[in-house]
Amino acid sequence: MVTRADWLDFAATLAPGSVDLLYADPPFNTGKVQRGRTREDTPSAPPSYHDAFETTAHWVRWLRDRLVATLPALKPSACVLLHIDWRTSHHARLLLDDLLGADRFVNHLIWSYGLGGSSPRRFARKHDDILFYAMDPDRYFFDPPMVPATSNRMRGELKKATDVLDIPAINNMAAERTGYPTQKPLALLDLLVRACCPQGGLVIDPCFGSGTTLVAAAHAGRAAHGCDANPDAVAIARARLTALDRVGSDPDPRG
Ligand SMILES: C[S@@+](CC[C@H](N)C(=O)[O-])C[C@H]1O[C@@H](n2cnc3c(N)ncnc32)[C@H](O)[C@@H]1O
Repeated sequence: MVTRADWLDFAATLAPGSVDLLYADPPFNTGKVQRGRTREDTPSAPPSYHDAFETTAHWVRWLRDRLVATLPALKPSACVLLHIDWRTSHHARLLLDDLLGADRFVNHLIWSYGLGGSSPRRFARKHDDILFYAMDPDRYFFDPPMVPATSNRMRGELKKATDVLDIPAINNMAAERTGYPTQKPLALLDLLVRACCPQGGLVIDPCFGSGTTLVAAAHAGRAAHGCDANPDAVAIARARLTALDRVGSDPDPRG
Protein backbone atom coordinates (compact mmCIF):
# COMPACT_ATOMS: atom_id res chain seq x y z
CA MET A 1 0.00 0.00 0.00
CA VAL A 2 1.44 3.34 -1.11
CA THR A 3 0.13 6.51 0.53
CA ARG A 4 0.98 10.17 0.14
CA ALA A 5 1.06 11.40 3.73
CA ASP A 6 3.16 12.79 6.51
CA TRP A 7 4.59 9.95 8.60
CA LEU A 8 2.66 11.30 11.61
CA ASP A 9 -0.73 10.93 9.86
CA PHE A 10 0.24 7.56 8.37
CA ALA A 11 1.11 6.28 11.87
CA ALA A 12 -2.43 7.05 13.05
CA THR A 13 -3.85 4.69 10.38
CA LEU A 14 -1.88 1.61 11.52
CA ALA A 15 -3.63 -1.14 13.46
CA PRO A 16 -2.15 -1.68 16.96
CA GLY A 17 0.27 -4.61 17.17
CA SER A 18 0.20 -5.32 13.43
CA VAL A 19 3.72 -4.54 12.20
CA ASP A 20 6.74 -6.90 12.11
CA LEU A 21 9.36 -4.44 10.87
CA LEU A 22 9.63 -0.66 10.90
CA TYR A 23 12.34 0.50 8.49
CA ALA A 24 12.70 4.27 8.32
CA ASP A 25 15.15 6.20 6.14
CA PRO A 26 14.14 9.74 7.08
CA PRO A 27 15.69 13.02 5.90
CA PHE A 28 19.28 13.17 7.22
CA ASN A 29 19.22 16.91 7.96
CA THR A 30 21.87 17.66 5.35
CA GLY A 31 20.67 21.28 5.17
CA LYS A 32 20.12 20.91 1.41
CA VAL A 33 17.46 20.28 -1.17
CA GLN A 34 18.12 16.72 -2.35
CA ARG A 35 17.80 16.66 -6.13
CA GLY A 36 17.56 13.55 -8.25
CA ARG A 37 17.74 13.05 -12.00
CA THR A 38 15.12 13.16 -14.69
CA ARG A 39 14.80 9.88 -16.58
CA GLU A 40 14.47 9.84 -20.36
CA ASP A 41 11.06 8.15 -20.06
CA THR A 42 9.72 10.81 -17.62
CA PRO A 43 10.79 14.21 -19.02
CA SER A 44 9.51 16.34 -16.13
CA ALA A 45 11.48 18.26 -13.48
CA PRO A 46 13.89 16.10 -11.48
CA PRO A 47 12.40 14.73 -8.25
CA SER A 48 13.57 16.54 -5.13
CA TYR A 49 12.84 16.98 -1.44
CA HIS A 50 13.82 19.42 1.29
CA ASP A 51 16.24 17.97 3.80
CA ALA A 52 16.77 20.88 6.16
CA PHE A 53 15.63 21.45 9.75
CA GLU A 54 16.12 24.64 11.72
CA THR A 55 18.43 22.89 14.19
CA THR A 56 19.39 19.33 15.10
CA ALA A 57 17.02 19.62 18.07
CA HIS A 58 14.17 20.27 15.62
CA TRP A 59 15.15 17.12 13.67
CA VAL A 60 15.17 15.07 16.90
CA ARG A 61 11.77 16.47 17.92
CA TRP A 62 10.39 15.71 14.45
CA LEU A 63 11.62 12.13 14.64
CA ARG A 64 10.56 11.60 18.25
CA ASP A 65 6.95 12.62 17.54
CA ARG A 66 6.74 10.20 14.61
CA LEU A 67 8.35 7.27 16.40
CA VAL A 68 6.11 7.74 19.43
CA ALA A 69 3.06 7.69 17.16
CA THR A 70 4.28 4.52 15.37
CA LEU A 71 5.43 2.32 18.25
CA PRO A 72 1.92 1.14 19.30
CA ALA A 73 1.57 -0.45 15.85
CA LEU A 74 4.56 -2.75 16.38
CA LYS A 75 4.24 -6.36 17.50
CA PRO A 76 6.22 -7.48 20.58
CA SER A 77 8.39 -9.50 18.16
CA ALA A 78 8.97 -6.49 15.88
CA CYS A 79 12.28 -4.96 14.82
CA VAL A 80 13.07 -1.28 14.28
CA LEU A 81 15.69 -0.22 11.73
CA LEU A 82 16.49 3.50 11.61
CA HIS A 83 18.72 4.53 8.69
CA ILE A 84 20.69 7.74 9.28
CA ASP A 85 24.27 8.97 8.95
CA TRP A 86 27.10 10.69 10.85
CA ARG A 87 25.10 13.89 11.20
CA THR A 88 22.47 12.43 13.52
CA SER A 89 23.33 8.83 14.45
CA HIS A 90 24.52 9.82 17.95
CA HIS A 91 21.27 11.75 18.60
CA ALA A 92 19.14 8.94 17.15
CA ARG A 93 20.81 6.33 19.37
CA LEU A 94 20.00 8.34 22.49
CA LEU A 95 16.46 8.94 21.26
CA LEU A 96 15.84 5.22 20.70
CA ASP A 97 17.42 4.35 24.05
CA ASP A 98 15.03 6.82 25.63
CA LEU A 99 11.89 5.64 23.78
CA LEU A 100 12.52 1.88 23.81
CA GLY A 101 15.15 1.28 26.49
CA ALA A 102 18.91 0.78 26.04
CA ASP A 103 18.38 -2.97 26.53
CA ARG A 104 16.43 -3.06 23.24
CA PHE A 105 19.49 -2.07 21.22
CA VAL A 106 20.62 -4.93 18.97
CA ASN A 107 23.15 -3.60 16.43
CA HIS A 108 24.67 -0.47 15.02
CA LEU A 109 24.90 -1.56 11.38
CA ILE A 110 27.30 0.10 8.99
CA TRP A 111 26.22 0.22 5.37
CA SER A 112 29.56 0.61 3.59
CA TYR A 113 28.91 1.77 0.02
CA GLY A 114 32.20 2.90 -1.44
CA LEU A 115 31.07 5.98 -3.37
CA GLY A 116 31.74 9.68 -2.66
CA GLY A 117 32.53 11.33 0.67
CA SER A 118 36.23 12.05 0.12
CA SER A 119 38.05 15.18 1.34
CA PRO A 120 41.70 16.20 1.80
CA ARG A 121 40.79 17.29 5.38
CA ARG A 122 39.47 14.04 6.87
CA PHE A 123 38.93 10.32 6.28
CA ALA A 124 36.48 9.69 3.42
CA ARG A 125 32.89 9.29 4.62
CA LYS A 126 31.71 6.16 2.90
CA HIS A 127 29.07 4.65 5.14
CA ASP A 128 25.57 5.19 6.54
CA ASP A 129 24.39 4.02 9.97
CA ILE A 130 21.41 1.76 10.57
CA LEU A 131 20.34 1.43 14.20
CA PHE A 132 18.66 -1.89 14.94
CA TYR A 133 16.41 -2.11 18.01
CA ALA A 134 13.98 -4.83 19.09
CA MET A 135 10.63 -4.26 20.79
CA ASP A 136 11.36 -7.19 23.10
CA PRO A 137 14.96 -8.43 23.43
CA ASP A 138 13.77 -11.99 24.15
CA ARG A 139 11.15 -12.32 21.40
CA TYR A 140 12.24 -10.44 18.30
CA PHE A 141 12.44 -12.10 14.89
CA PHE A 142 15.88 -12.47 13.34
CA ASP A 143 17.00 -14.76 10.53
CA PRO A 144 20.76 -14.22 10.13
CA PRO A 145 21.56 -13.24 6.55
CA MET A 146 24.25 -15.22 4.75
CA VAL A 147 26.77 -13.44 2.53
CA PRO A 148 29.69 -14.67 0.40
CA ALA A 149 32.78 -15.33 2.50
CA THR A 150 35.85 -13.31 1.52
CA SER A 151 38.67 -15.19 3.28
CA ASN A 152 40.80 -17.56 1.20
CA ARG A 153 39.96 -20.42 3.55
CA MET A 154 36.18 -20.08 2.99
CA ARG A 155 36.23 -18.90 -0.65
CA GLY A 156 33.04 -19.91 -2.46
CA GLU A 157 31.15 -20.51 0.82
CA LEU A 158 28.59 -18.41 2.66
CA LYS A 159 29.04 -16.95 6.14
CA LYS A 160 26.78 -15.05 8.53
CA ALA A 161 26.74 -11.32 7.75
CA THR A 162 28.58 -9.05 10.19
CA ASP A 163 27.42 -5.61 11.30
CA VAL A 164 29.33 -4.09 8.37
CA LEU A 165 27.30 -4.52 5.19
CA ASP A 166 29.44 -4.08 2.08
CA ILE A 167 26.89 -3.28 -0.60
CA PRO A 168 27.67 -0.89 -3.46
CA ALA A 169 25.61 2.28 -3.85
CA ILE A 170 23.45 2.42 -6.98
CA ASN A 171 25.58 3.45 -9.95
CA ASN A 172 24.45 5.66 -12.82
CA MET A 173 23.87 2.73 -15.17
CA ALA A 174 22.04 0.44 -12.73
CA ALA A 175 18.71 -0.91 -13.99
CA GLU A 176 17.10 -0.22 -10.60
CA ARG A 177 18.00 3.50 -10.67
CA THR A 178 14.81 5.59 -10.62
CA GLY A 179 16.34 9.09 -10.53
CA TYR A 180 14.95 9.70 -7.03
CA PRO A 181 17.54 11.33 -4.76
CA THR A 182 19.07 9.21 -1.98
CA GLN A 183 17.57 6.00 -3.39
CA LYS A 184 18.95 2.98 -1.53
CA PRO A 185 19.98 -0.25 -3.27
CA LEU A 186 17.51 -3.10 -3.44
CA ALA A 187 20.23 -5.51 -2.28
CA LEU A 188 20.48 -3.64 1.05
CA LEU A 189 16.72 -3.63 1.67
CA ASP A 190 16.41 -7.24 0.53
CA LEU A 191 18.95 -8.31 3.16
CA LEU A 192 17.33 -6.24 5.93
CA VAL A 193 13.76 -7.27 5.15
CA ARG A 194 14.57 -10.98 4.98
CA ALA A 195 16.62 -10.78 8.21
CA CYS A 196 14.19 -8.76 10.31
CA CYS A 197 10.67 -9.63 9.09
CA PRO A 198 9.22 -13.16 8.92
CA GLN A 199 7.86 -14.57 5.66
CA GLY A 200 4.33 -13.21 5.21
CA GLY A 201 4.91 -10.50 7.83
CA LEU A 202 4.26 -6.78 7.49
CA VAL A 203 6.97 -4.17 6.85
CA ILE A 204 6.27 -0.45 7.09
CA ASP A 205 8.37 2.35 5.62
CA PRO A 206 7.05 5.82 6.55
CA CYS A 207 9.53 7.72 4.30
CA PHE A 208 9.66 5.34 1.33
CA GLY A 209 11.15 7.71 -1.27
CA SER A 210 11.46 5.71 -4.49
CA GLY A 211 9.78 2.71 -2.83
CA THR A 212 12.85 0.49 -2.42
CA THR A 213 11.56 -1.16 0.78
CA LEU A 214 8.19 -1.88 -0.80
CA VAL A 215 9.82 -3.52 -3.83
CA ALA A 216 12.20 -5.53 -1.64
CA ALA A 217 9.27 -6.73 0.49
CA ALA A 218 7.34 -7.81 -2.62
CA HIS A 219 10.36 -9.82 -3.84
CA ALA A 220 10.76 -11.42 -0.42
CA GLY A 221 7.09 -12.38 0.11
CA ARG A 222 6.42 -9.83 2.86
CA ALA A 223 3.53 -7.34 2.86
CA ALA A 224 4.48 -3.66 2.92
CA HIS A 225 2.72 -0.40 3.72
CA GLY A 226 4.34 2.96 3.42
CA CYS A 227 3.99 6.66 2.94
CA ASP A 228 5.96 9.63 1.74
CA ALA A 229 5.09 13.30 1.99
CA ASN A 230 6.53 14.01 -1.48
CA PRO A 231 4.26 13.50 -4.52
CA ASP A 232 7.33 12.71 -6.70
CA ALA A 233 8.17 9.83 -4.38
CA VAL A 234 4.62 8.50 -4.47
CA ALA A 235 4.53 8.58 -8.27
CA ILE A 236 7.88 6.80 -8.60
CA ALA A 237 7.10 4.15 -5.97
CA ARG A 238 3.68 3.47 -7.55
CA ALA A 239 5.18 3.13 -11.01
CA ARG A 240 7.86 0.80 -9.68
CA LEU A 241 5.33 -1.46 -7.96
CA THR A 242 3.00 -1.46 -10.96
CA ALA A 243 5.88 -2.45 -13.24
CA LEU A 244 6.81 -5.18 -10.77
CA ASP A 245 3.25 -6.57 -10.88
CA ARG A 246 3.20 -6.41 -14.68
CA VAL A 247 6.56 -7.74 -15.80
CA GLY A 248 8.71 -8.13 -12.70
CA SER A 249 10.83 -5.30 -14.12
CA ASP A 250 12.78 -4.32 -10.98
CA PRO A 251 15.76 -6.65 -11.02
CA ASP A 252 15.67 -9.42 -8.42
CA PRO A 253 18.18 -8.14 -5.82
CA ARG A 254 19.65 -11.63 -5.43
CA GLY A 255 20.36 -11.94 -9.17
C1 LIG B 1 16.24 9.45 2.50
S1 LIG B 1 14.77 9.62 1.59
C2 LIG B 1 14.16 7.95 1.47
C3 LIG B 1 14.81 7.19 0.33
C4 LIG B 1 14.27 5.79 0.16
N1 LIG B 1 14.71 4.92 1.23
C5 LIG B 1 14.66 5.19 -1.17
O1 LIG B 1 15.30 4.12 -1.23
O2 LIG B 1 14.32 5.79 -2.19
C6 LIG B 1 13.71 10.38 2.78
C7 LIG B 1 12.29 10.57 2.34
O3 LIG B 1 11.55 11.10 3.44
C8 LIG B 1 10.48 11.84 2.87
N2 LIG B 1 9.87 12.68 3.93
C9 LIG B 1 10.34 13.85 4.43
N3 LIG B 1 9.52 14.30 5.40
C10 LIG B 1 8.52 13.39 5.51
C11 LIG B 1 7.37 13.29 6.35
N4 LIG B 1 7.09 14.20 7.28
N5 LIG B 1 6.56 12.21 6.21
C12 LIG B 1 6.84 11.26 5.27
N6 LIG B 1 7.90 11.32 4.44
C13 LIG B 1 8.74 12.36 4.56
C14 LIG B 1 11.12 12.58 1.72
O4 LIG B 1 10.14 13.03 0.79
C15 LIG B 1 12.07 11.51 1.16
O5 LIG B 1 11.46 10.82 0.11
